[in-house]
Amino acid sequence: MISKKMEKALNKQINLELYSAYIYAAMAADFDAKNLPGFAQWMKAQTQEEVAHAMKFYGYVNEAGGRVVLDAIEKPPASYASPLKAFEASLKHERVVTKSIYHLVDLAKEESDHATSVFLQWYVAEQVEEEAHADAILQRLKMVGEAGHGILMIDRELGQRQSAPAPGGEED
Ligand SMILES: [Fe+2]
Ligand SMILES: [Fe+2]
Repeated sequence: MISKKMEKALNKQINLELYSAYIYAAMAADFDAKNLPGFAQWMKAQTQEEVAHAMKFYGYVNEAGGRVVLDAIEKPPASYASPLKAFEASLKHERVVTKSIYHLVDLAKEESDHATSVFLQWYVAEQVEEEAHADAILQRLKMVGEAGHGILMIDRELGQRQSAPAPGGEED
């Protein structure tokens, strides 16, 4: 059974994960509007991952005897000056999420809540990957600069990223 304080903190994290999904969906829409379908596809897959992160917390809160309560989701930025700016914002956002996960880990330790500590370890590892992926693409965007050819090359590559299979195993 989780404490009321932990329940509140985990509900806040559900909101942050859904806000992450919203940020990436807005980035996808911006890329689609700018005819960069590969970047858009990458962001759509990222959106699905963030929803999955939120639902994993949802499942845990329920299982641990808590109550999921959803709050309003903040409005995400609608557009970015360039793919570089979008990935800079992505990396910055992922660092905020990592900090938030670390606060949860600290709280679990404080409360000797070992079950939640173990549950959170998956997110600690996941955030290392999330930051690394955003940073790798950011570094490549820095390398190619504003050159159209380089951007289109990266667009083609990012378009290879698969979306998570829909529940029931169907691809969308
Ligand atoms: Fe996430
Ligand atoms: Fe993320």
